[in-house]
Amino acid sequence: MAQASDEAAAYDPASGPPKAFAQCSICHSAEPGKNMIGPSLAGIYGEKAGDVEGFNFSPAMMKSGLVWDDETLDAYIENPRKVVPGTRMSYAGMKNPEMRQQIIEYIKSL
Ligand code: HEC
Repeated sequence: MAQASDEAAAYDPASGPPKAFAQCSICHSAEPGKNMIGPSLAGIYGEKAGDVEGFNFSPAMMKSGLVWDDETLDAYIENPRKVVPGTRMSYAGMKNPEMRQQIIEYIKSL
């Protein structure tokens, strides 16, 4: 029984946020309308970057022209400053692709 790796591969968003989301939840909530240091991540999947109501985004994010899908989220979470130079998100990036994938599945479910 290879429990640990099976659990990582078989992440189900219905069971709640993946462990890796702890790195995001210091600044982001998953509740609609609850902006913290970062914008709420509820409902952003499929939407334009920099478009969460009531959040003061950087000019860089608002002008990025990005739409959040698997590809753009993956690239941004891996290296925020490379994808959006000038972003106000002070996060170095998540290098582990499996963890990024779980977070994307979670964001999609919100
Ligand atoms: C230190 C606080 C902080 C941490 C940690 C952080 N973020 Fe952010 N995040 C922000 C801020 C601030 C913004 C707004 C950036 C801007 O306007 O340039 C943002 C923006 C975003 C956006 C764009 C939202 C939109 O609607 O355009 C996404 C997606 C995002 N963060 C995901 C994540 C994920 C996933 C993690 C964890 C891997 C994470 N962030 C960790 C502060 C943080």
